[in-house]
Amino acid sequence: MRLADRRDESTVRTAGPSGAAAMVAVVIAFGACSLLGCSRTELESAPRGEPAEVATSPGEDPGAGSIDFLIESKPVKLLTADELMKNLKPLRLEVFEPYERANAVFTAVPLERVLDEAYGPSWRTKEAILFGCRDGYEPTIPVRRILEHQAFLAIDRPGDVGFTILKDEEGTRRRIDLRPFYVIWENLDNARVRTEGDYGWPYQVIRIDLVSFRSRFQEMAPPAHSSSQVQAGFDAFVAHCSKCHAINGRGGAIGPELNYPANPTEYLKEEWLRKWIDDPTLMRIAPRMPPLNPDLPDRTRIIDEIVAYLGAMASHKIEPGAP
Ligand code: HEC
Repeated sequence: MRLADRRDESTVRTAGPSGAAAMVAVVIAFGACSLLGCSRTELESAPRGEPAEVATSPGEDPGAGSIDFLIESKPVKLLTADELMKNLKPLRLEVFEPYERANAVFTAVPLERVLDEAYGPSWRTKEAILFGCRDGYEPTIPVRRILEHQAFLAIDRPGDVGFTILKDEEGTRRRIDLRPFYVIWENLDNARVRTEGDYGWPYQVIRIDLVSFRSRFQEMAPPAHSSSQVQAGFDAFVAHCSKCHAINGRGGAIGPELNYPANPTEYLKEEWLRKWIDDPTLMRIAPRMPPLNPDLPDRTRIIDEIVAYLGAMASHKIEPGAP
């Protein structure tokens, strides 16, 4: 793509629920500045909460990544970073980065536009999006959340650090490679999204799958006659735990499987299981598992529900991979 293609002086307006005036995007011509090499002054020209369109430079390699789009595990399309950059005008967006816990600027395209590009408008009627990440992380986000708030697919981070963030892992602050894609949210003007911390911020995203909760999480779902507390615990487990843990073979692979062959309610005292979910550092030095988001409202109730759900699953085991 040639730099000149991006130098149209029009003003772009991103539609959204959080105040159209604040979301007027400003076109910034960057000259020959590469995406990775932009100076601080240029960064400051992206005011708080206002995405600004950026130029992309020729030959720049934005992670050389691609992303697979699926519907219920069936592939429908593959888009490369180059195609996304070319077809959807990238913006420069400042957000409160929940892992660094500081403001950060990213080069990004609106996730709604990405999904339109891949699926056409029909994705809006689906229930959830399952993100697949290079490191085995598999978070699910309800489609509703993408319609209610403004999500973006970040392609790069301008500045010296490259497309990375600093993140606390096992007690040390590490630099994490975000490539090829990082899902970010407008959260400077949206207190609710900000309270939810890193919920819905997967990085190293290589796959987007449109799913329905029940079909995708069949093996993870509690028996149909379960109590409403157990059902609520299932929803909470999908939202907060399944991105890292599998139940009966389904779910993320960062932490251990939590039902087959043994379920933690079978080998941990309930009090210790609750402590572990509440704050793993009460049990281990430098655990890899993070505590359940401390800012969640009704946290104690959510822990009750998750423990009830795990208890119910102990008598509902399905051998992973069994037909
Ligand atoms: C970011 C990934 C991640 C998330 C999210 C996560 N866990 Fe973990 N979990 C781990 C890892 C990794 C371990 C292995 C111990 C360690 O290194 O911390 C673990 C260990 C556990 C264990 C101990 C299992 C054993 O046999 O030692 C339990 C129980 C557990 N997690 C439950 C949960 C529940 C319930 C949630 C949701 C509230 C959750 N985890 C969310 C990564 C995660």
